[in-house]
Amino acid sequence: MSIEITQLAKRFGQTNVLRGIDLKVEKGELVALLGPSGSGKTTLLKIIAGLEWPDAGGLHVDGIDWLQLAAKDRRIGFVFQHYALFPHMKVRDNLAFGLTVGPRAARPGKDVIRAKVDELLQFLQIPHLADRFPTQLSGGQKQRVALGRALAITPNVLLLDEPFGALDAAIRRDLRRWLRDVHEATGSTTIFVTHDQEEAFELADRVVVMGDGQIEQIGTADQIHDHPASPFVARFMGATVELPVHLQAGRPTADGLDLTALTRRPLPDGAATLFARPQDITPQPDPAGAWRVTRRSSTGAQLRLLLTHPTLGEVEADLPRRDAPEGLVPGAPSRLRIAAGTIFATTAHHRSATASAAQPIPRKESHL
Ligand SMILES: Nc1ncnc2c1ncn2[C@@H]1O[C@H](COP(=O)(O)OP(=O)(O)OP(=O)(O)O)[C@@H](O)[C@H]1O
Ligand SMILES: [Mg+2]
Repeated sequence: MSIEITQLAKRFGQTNVLRGIDLKVEKGELVALLGPSGSGKTTLLKIIAGLEWPDAGGLHVDGIDWLQLAAKDRRIGFVFQHYALFPHMKVRDNLAFGLTVGPRAARPGKDVIRAKVDELLQFLQIPHLADRFPTQLSGGQKQRVALGRALAITPNVLLLDEPFGALDAAIRRDLRRWLRDVHEATGSTTIFVTHDQEEAFELADRVVVMGDGQIEQIGTADQIHDHPASPFVARFMGATVELPVHLQAGRPTADGLDLTALTRRPLPDGAATLFARPQDITPQPDPAGAWRVTRRSSTGAQLRLLLTHPTLGEVEADLPRRDAPEGLVPGAPSRLRIAAGTIFATTAHHRSATASAAQPIPRKESHL
């Protein structure tokens, strides 16, 4: 089923939690909603499921107005971050649950349900768990069962709200691949919520980046990584270094920075801000350089340097240790070569730290 959301808005008290969401999810697509805590991801899912009511906007599924449809009639499969299995029921009864409720006339017979559950157990690769109770399962196994329960009703739309959020990294990776396979086999139109970039990019056909109740960007991993649409997305994607530059005819310049690797941009002349990742910054020892190495640490593979500028503050550079130029020792004067980055014209809606090119840039917390 295709989902079309138009200008959806929701307020809780004084807080605008969703501010005009426009999103179309194609039939059979797996879309990830990626965004920081509080950006409105769960609220959007709940509105689609009929568990919350919007203040404005539209929600159509295959052209049908879902706001006129009661939650129970939407046939949604929903999986939450925290396992929501019935503790007193075995796995097979948990899987069967959705098929055993609802109007008697529409309920399948016992044999049909049994066959369907067996099929699901095989399909989800968990037949050995059929007769266990939820307390006898690991977190990853519980989430497989939870997904199975959501799929049992052959949902119109599958909504997954950080289903792997409580699990450790290795199991998350396994489950991600498993979910991708399950999705390819079922072809369910799916919205997957996460605040883990890697998870979103590995799983989804398209990623929707949300920030503060708005969609900041919709795209593939490569588009969002290479061409963030806003300072918010740039920061969220790890471009934690912000430096003031001057643009002339699309070419950025700045004292102490080698920006020759950056492509020309269609941007107005004047003050602008360069957003770069620590991995895209290579310090070059230069006796005339205004940057000084103030800290150097190594993970063996990667060299992490902290560099300080008298007016611009500190930046972090991360480079493969083997490729690092000689002489990058504490105190060494350097200039910075920036291999890639995104430039936004400096406008009023940037955060105050970047609002004036003349101001020192405070050090940002690194996500590394
Ligand atoms: N029932 C509610 N009443 C009041 N405020 C709410 C309610 N539900 C959510 N909010 C607020 O709405 C905002 C968005 O919440 P939401 O749960 O949608 O965010 P989220 O993106 O899912 O965050 P997280 O990644 O932490 O799960 C938050 O500021 C939250 O405090
Ligand atoms: Mg949430």
